[in-house]
Amino acid sequence: MPHRIHPSILNANLASLDEEIRRIPSADAVHLDVMDNHFVPNLTIGLPVVENIRANHPETFLDIHLMITDADRFAPAYAELGCESVTFHAEAAKAPIRLARELRRLGSRAAMALKPTTPIEPYADIITEFDMILLMTVEPGFGGQSFLDSVLPKIRRTRELVRKTGQEIWIQVDGGVSVDTIGRAAEAGADVFVAGTAVYRAGDPDAMVNQLRDLAITACAH
Ligand code: DX5
Ligand code: ZN
Repeated sequence: MPHRIHPSILNANLASLDEEIRRIPSADAVHLDVMDNHFVPNLTIGLPVVENIRANHPETFLDIHLMITDADRFAPAYAELGCESVTFHAEAAKAPIRLARELRRLGSRAAMALKPTTPIEPYADIITEFDMILLMTVEPGFGGQSFLDSVLPKIRRTRELVRKTGQEIWIQVDGGVSVDTIGRAAEAGADVFVAGTAVYRAGDPDAMVNQLRDLAITACAH
C-alpha cells in the first residue's frame, strides 16, 4: 500500500503560495482546500488561483478538496484545468455518480468526501465509481482542529469495502493529522494523509512530510 502525504496549504501563507509549495518537495501532492463560505463557514481560494498554481507548478500533483455547495456545477472545471484529483462532498453533490464519471472523462481522478457523521454504507455499492474516498477527521472548514478518533471505525469499514472490490481505491484522511495521530489512522486503513498545521507549523516542513510518511509506514508494518 503506498503511503502518501498531501500537505494542505490552508494554514500556510496564502499570499506566498508559490514559495510555500516549494518548501515541501518531498510531498506526494499539494492539497488545495476550496471553500465557498456556504458549504462551510470559511472562504479560501477558487478556480483563478488554482489555475495559476497549475501554471506555476506543472509537475505537482494537485489534490483539490471542494467544500462547496454547488459541486455538480463547479467541480468539472478543476478537472478541465488538469488537476490530478478532484474531491467533492457526498453531502453536496446531487448526482455523485454522474459527477464522478464526468471528472474521470475529463482526465482527473474522482474522489468523494464524507463529513465525520456521514456514513460510508449508503455508498458501498458505488465505491468503484471513485479513485479515492476522503474521510474527514474534523468537521470541515478550518485547519488546526483536533483529530476525531470517532472516525477510526469508519476508516476500518471503508478499508474492508475497498478490499472487497479488489481495486486500488485510496482512503484519505483530512483533519488533525500529526505525528501523534497518523499512526492510528494508518493502522485503521488510511493510506493518503492530509496534514496542514503539522507540516506548515513545523520548523522544517519538508522533514515533517518525510517523518509523517515514515510513521504511517511503521504503523502498518505492525
Ligand atoms: C479542513 C481542511 C483541511 C485542513 C487540515 O476543512 O479540509 O485540509 O487544512 O488542516 P489540519 O491538518 O491543520 O487539521
Ligand atoms: Zn482538505
